[in-house]
Amino acid sequence: MAPYDIRLVGDPVLRQPAAEVTEIDDRLVRLATDMVTTMYEAPGIGLAAPQVGVQKRLFVYDLHDDRGPHTIVNPVISETRGEWVYEEGCLSVPGLSWEIVRPAEVYLTGLDLDGNEVSFEADELLARMFQHEVDHLDGVLLLERLDADQRKQAHRVLRDRALVTEHAEPRRRLRFPGRD
Ligand code: NI
Repeated sequence: MAPYDIRLVGDPVLRQPAAEVTEIDDRLVRLATDMVTTMYEAPGIGLAAPQVGVQKRLFVYDLHDDRGPHTIVNPVISETRGEWVYEEGCLSVPGLSWEIVRPAEVYLTGLDLDGNEVSFEADELLARMFQHEVDHLDGVLLLERLDADQRKQAHRVLRDRALVTEHAEPRRRLRFPGRD
């Protein structure tokens, strides 16, 4: 069983900016390990700490290359370039995805779990996932990145789903495959 339940849209913890990590200690490493397990079981390619109810600036990811999983602590995106449309989903908004425009390339810096500085020039899926996860750390969900029509549709679906969960089954049993 996954160490954490993934928090779903409507949970206020997803709307609060997370705090900088001030110390990389055993507890933080344990948190990252448990987040990775939770991400794999979901399954997803990225998971930010607020999604498991922890208000700290870190996320884990694995794009299923041969080097994962990875943890980035205190990530900062300092440069962006271009535009890319990609169908994006979120484990906290399960079962839904939208074509969203975001910058195609980003420059991200942060720390790894050994406290070493890391930096990435990322494009395509890696760049998209970085932007999505840093948004989580700022209390922003992908719903904020939708255009007006998409947002209307999203709110309708989420409203309907809330009605369904009220009358049919507890919210936590509503699990759908998501991507990140
Ligand atoms: Ni997400």
